Amino acid sequence: MPMENGPFIDGIFAYFYEELLNTATLGGYGEILMTAIAHSGAHHGTSVLEFATGPGANCRRFLRLIGKSPYVGIDISQGMKKRFMKRCGDRDNVRFVETSITEPFDLHEKFDIVFISFAFHGFPHDKQRIIMENAYNHVKDNGRFCIFDYGTFDLETAHPVVEKIFRAVECPHAYNFIKLDLKEMAREIGFTKYKEWYPLNVPYLRLACMKK
Ligand SMILES: C[S@@+](CC[C@H](N)C(=O)[O-])C[C@H]1O[C@@H](n2cnc3c(N)ncnc32)[C@H](O)[C@@H]1O
Repeated sequence: MPMENGPFIDGIFAYFYEELLNTATLGGYGEILMTAIAHSGAHHGTSVLEFATGPGANCRRFLRLIGKSPYVGIDISQGMKKRFMKRCGDRDNVRFVETSITEPFDLHEKFDIVFISFAFHGFPHDKQRIIMENAYNHVKDNGRFCIFDYGTFDLETAHPVVEKIFRAVECPHAYNFIKLDLKEMAREIGFTKYKEWYPLNVPYLRLACMKK
């Protein structure tokens, strides 16, 4: 999504965002997200803060694993909020916060897991740093920040299909993200014990988790 300051999605696209992605990936989008969420370590008793949460589908996925533990989803889009509230708004342990993750904020509580999927690559580097600092400030000691997104790879030598799709849909920030040393960035912010996992055994999709 070629946006200047981040992957902002609203209106009709926000409403049908997940259906569009699921159709484009023949249903694979939802499945792969569930796998990544499970791999983030979420289970009964784990509290979760999700950045750029989107239309509430991830909230439902997390709830399958965390049950009645606290879940807070943050997103800047009114359209996403509407959809999120329809899906998860009736749960006592769920809260939606409408704010920007690219400005420093303080929820005055800390979580076992802070999670972000398919959004981090869409922000400029200075905003990515603020997002990571916001995560650091909201993770409990020994908690983790997990980023599910593109991995590090060279577009010139990538599979031709991946290269074509990437060039067709991605914003300029994504080109920088696939070259970024995420482990080093995490270290600079203060995270320790950085781990990566590649669900499809290819470098294009990566779950990176860093511990506080
Ligand atoms: C590509 S979608 C990803 C949604 C969801 N995480 C997923 O994996 O399906 C990007 C999301 O980032 C949200 N977003 C964009 N800029 C934001 C910001 N500054 N603060 C919070 N959310 C933001 C958009 O509204 C949208 O829901």
